This record gives sequence, C-alpha cells and structure tokens, in this order.
Amino acid sequence: MLSELDKKARDILAKNDRGGFTIPTARLYPFQWNWDSAFIALGIATMDNQRAWQELEMLVEGQADDGMIPSIIFRNDDDDYFPGHKVWQTKNGAINGTGISQPPVLASVVAQLAKAHGQEGLKRAKALFPAMMKWHRWWHECRTPEGADVVCTVHPWETGRDNCPDWKIGLRNMQTDPNLEPYQRKDIEHANPEERPSQEEYDKYISIVKFGREIGWDQTLLTNKGPFLMADPGIFFILLRADRDLLSLAQELGFEEEAQIIAQWIKGAEISANQFWNEEFGAFCAWDVRTGEFSHGFSNASALCFYADVGTAEQREKTLSHMERIASQTKFGQSSWDPDAPLFESQRYWCGPLWCQMNYMIAKGLKEQGEDVLAAKMRDDLKNVIELSGFYECFDPLSGAGCIGHDFSWTAALWLAWASPSLNQQTPA
Ligand code: GLC
Repeated sequence: MLSELDKKARDILAKNDRGGFTIPTARLYPFQWNWDSAFIALGIATMDNQRAWQELEMLVEGQADDGMIPSIIFRNDDDDYFPGHKVWQTKNGAINGTGISQPPVLASVVAQLAKAHGQEGLKRAKALFPAMMKWHRWWHECRTPEGADVVCTVHPWETGRDNCPDWKIGLRNMQTDPNLEPYQRKDIEHANPEERPSQEEYDKYISIVKFGREIGWDQTLLTNKGPFLMADPGIFFILLRADRDLLSLAQELGFEEEAQIIAQWIKGAEISANQFWNEEFGAFCAWDVRTGEFSHGFSNASALCFYADVGTAEQREKTLSHMERIASQTKFGQSSWDPDAPLFESQRYWCGPLWCQMNYMIAKGLKEQGEDVLAAKMRDDLKNVIELSGFYECFDPLSGAGCIGHDFSWTAALWLAWASPSLNQQTPA
C-alpha cells in the first residue's frame, strides 16, 4: 500500500515532469540535468516503465557531436537560471547544452532497468547503447590529459559535487579571469546564500566557462590547457562502475568489438585506481593533476570504492573506519565532507550535507561487497531524514534539516526506488 510519503514523492515527480523529462526542482534548476535524470528514471520505473525509458532517451538526445552528454540540456530559455545557454554558447549538438558533463551514471541505470524489463528493456537498452559507448569513449579520450592515465575533470560542476572543499586546491591554483563580464547570480535569489558557494568560487567557475567558450569548447584543449584540472574519485569510480555495466550490456546485446574496448578501459582503470589513494590520509581522495597535491578529507565520493569494486583489503578497511568515524559524529548518513576536516559546514551544499544519490550508490556498493549492516544503515538514514524533513535537495547530517531546493526529484525518486518502507525490505540496496 502507498504511504503518504509515497504519494507525495509521486506528486513531486509528476509536478516536475516537463513532458518526457523531469527537472530537479522548479525555479532553482529549471532544465534537464544529466545524472539527476538517471536517478529519476529509477523512481519513475516504480510506476511507469515507458516513461522511465523516455527520461533516459531524452537525456541522450542532448548528446553533443563529440560524444559528451552535457551536464544540463537546455531545451528552452529560462531567465530564472544562471548561467544559461547564452553564457555557455556551445554549438555542437542538436539541442543546446552546457560545455561540461556530469558523473556518468546512465549506463548503470540502463543496465539495471534492462534487467528488470525483459525483452522490451533489452530493446530500449540496445537503442541507447551506441550513445552510451560514444559518451564513455569521450570520457576516456577527451578527459584523460596528455601524459596521464586517469580520467580527470575540468570544472567542479562537472563532478556534480560543486563546491566540495576537494576543489579548493584546483581553484586556488587558478586565476579569476580579469576580464570577466559582470553577471548576476540567480542561485542566491532562490536559495539561502549561506547554503550556496561563495562569490569568489563562483567567479572562478564562470572564468572556466569563459575559457571553454573562447576555445569553442574544444574538449581536448580544455582538458590539457584549461585553468582547472583535478582527478575526482567520484567521476572515476562512477565511470568504472558504469564501464562494468556497459560491458555486461555489450556482451548481452552482442556488441563484440565494443566489449573488447570496454574491457581495456576497465583493466586500465583497475590499475590506475591506486593513484587516488592518499597514503598519508589513508583514503581515496581527489588530487590536482598538475601539482600532484592531494585533498585531505573524506568525502562521500571516497566511499564509492565499493561501488567501483576496487581497493585492496587494507584500503577497504581504512575506508570503512573513516565511515565509522564520521557516522559516530553525524545523526544521518554519510556527510558529503569530513566533519573533522577544515571547511566542514553542515548546511552548505557539498561542504557537509547528506545527498541521497550518493548514499544510494555507496550503499549499493557496500551491499555488493558484503557490508550489509552499513548498507542498511545508509538506507535507514535516508528514510529517517526524509520522514523528518521531506523531499529536500540535501540534508544537514547533524540535525536532519532539509537544505536548499525542496520538492526535489532525485530525493523523491530514490525514496520510491530505494528508501520507502513500502518496498520489500529484502530488495537489494
Ligand atoms: C547541483 C548539484 C548537482 C545536481 C544539480 C541539479 O548543481 O550540485 O549535483 O546535478 O544541482 O540537481
């Protein structure tokens, strides 16, 4: 039977539906977002399989000619949002998008839905396969800098963990463009500025966009010569996991040549995963590719090694002990940033709050690796915080207060697909 919260979650997804795709929340984020849509499809699939596939198909429609699937698909103009397409000015796809991507969760969701939806699922997955292959190739070719063998990122926004203290290192090492045109932020009109990134950070974000625009969004050039270049354990682990899921799809659907290529990507990533290991701190951390400087703090992306199925027994042990250390200080789940590290703020976006989609992936990985108790705790924490505060964008891990956007689509979707007690508690995390 549907609970009141199940009904509310369904209403949110219906309200944020813009005709085949779903926006994260009205006003603050009025377009289709890349990794949001992947999680949203999981929630919609609890009600309507067709519509869930459509969400993913419409995301792929935004693919740029070089294979990148942008972080945002701009099907319309909306002055409520900055920076919109007038600022990005990309010209390389049928539909306008940003000039950067977002963590590639798509193939993992497609594999999961294909498995659940029988022949129809396989048919839909087959149709999406070439686009996913092209996108993964783009990551491996255009986001791997010359002389390096790991996938990197050129903009904090590309990581989906926008203002995490991890990025301070790369931002400190770059200059704000002295000729930045004046601009007006919209995010702080729709949300509490105390919970949003600082102005100094924002100027740097926009400086990178300006750089990309000025080189016509040549993605290889942006990776090699852009102002910001960091390696993100989030993107790296999510891509490795998605490569594994893409490989199983390739095998099942008979894409033999592609399967060989993907297997090579996986092999390479399994070897280079160790480059994320910060020995001094004892965790998988982000680092600045040009200076080699490591971030020193445990983020929720550090915990995704289980999801990617990498790490030695010792590395996994150390990762678990960081998670226990953090859980002993927070009331709800895994915080996005380490409460013992500088710059932790329990309500500022990626400097502390708990994010549902990260909890979901972390728990999925933990469960697969036999850490059932911790996996169940992460699911319960999300259930409890939603019961306490509702469907917010993210939550204060200390008090459980909802932060930033409300009536948020991925929170509603993951409630329906994962955290709701109406689901059989035996369903895999
Ligand atoms: C924020 C988040 C990002 C998300 C987007 C839309 O920018 O940091 O991860 O995709 O909002 O929800």
